[in-house]
Amino acid sequence: MSDQTVDRTDLNGRIAVVTGAAQGLGLAMGERLARDGATVVMADLQQDKVQTEADRLQQDGLNVHPAALDVADSAGVTAFFDNVVEKHGSLDILVNNAGVGQTVTPTVDLSDEEWHRVMNITLNGTFYCCRAGGAIMERQESGSIVNISSINGQNPAALVAAYNVAKAAVIMLTRTLSLELAAYGVRVNAVCPGPVYTDFNKSVMDQRRQSLNISMDEMVNRIEKAVPLGRWGDAADIANGVAFLCSPASAWVTGEVLRVSGGLEGVAAAPPKRQKT
Ligand SMILES: NC(=O)c1ccc[n+]([C@@H]2O[C@H](COP(=O)([O-])OP(=O)(O)OC[C@H]3O[C@@H](n4cnc5c(N)ncnc54)[C@H](O)[C@@H]3O)[C@@H](O)[C@H]2O)c1
Repeated sequence: MSDQTVDRTDLNGRIAVVTGAAQGLGLAMGERLARDGATVVMADLQQDKVQTEADRLQQDGLNVHPAALDVADSAGVTAFFDNVVEKHGSLDILVNNAGVGQTVTPTVDLSDEEWHRVMNITLNGTFYCCRAGGAIMERQESGSIVNISSINGQNPAALVAAYNVAKAAVIMLTRTLSLELAAYGVRVNAVCPGPVYTDFNKSVMDQRRQSLNISMDEMVNRIEKAVPLGRWGDAADIANGVAFLCSPASAWVTGEVLRVSGGLEGVAAAPPKRQKT
């Protein structure tokens, strides 16, 4: 029986890494884990931006450290995680959040370059970080990994095939790794966010509304109406789900896929037939 008097959301003394932490969902996750007591390494490709945000959070008394990382650089990822352990002593929490969307394009017109760009960052980057972070946690025999997928990883939206496929693969990677690391007491889970109006989503919405021939306001309202709980998500909504899976409150949860989407299961968004030129 577990002791019900212990605060099982307290992350004091834990070392966490959040990738893609300079803005949007990753920034909210980094802040949330730090507010729960963790020491958070905020890693991102955008060095200046992650430095500025980390400075701001440090001034608020939070224990955060900015770091440069390209998750698509296999060797660089391994070196980065070795450095985290050398500097901080352990790796207790890893949130693989860094990812890129796809230019909204019919699959029959999708270029090799765009397919590989999305796969390299959104899928391969998550794999490189899972492999390097997972190896450290296996040695430690403790830790929690949370991979950020998407509702698109469970139900496809039209015109973003590479993104859907990458996010579906992130779920399968999560479930596979959860089986392999269970014997070491390491947990691996995925979060599937629904729509949150970050820079990433603004750009997707703008392209999608053009494909549907509607205004941005109509697009934003259409999404809001499609969400059973009746609103867009906040970055903090997603961070709450992530914090639960990082904390001892979820000690008996692994291989799980947690949808945090106001009940939205997916956005099909099938476009109308294209005009023949
Ligand atoms: N916003 C949403 O509605 C939504 C919904 C579902 C899933 N997601 C997923 O959540 C994650 C975060 O999304 P967001 O909306 O905050 O996006 P965002 O574009 O606002 O932020 C992504 C961050 O990742 C960083 N990044 C990009 N490539 C990188 C690389 N190679 N190495 C390291 N960092 C890199 C960027 O610099 C940026 O700071 C993504 O994986 C996205 O697919 C977002």
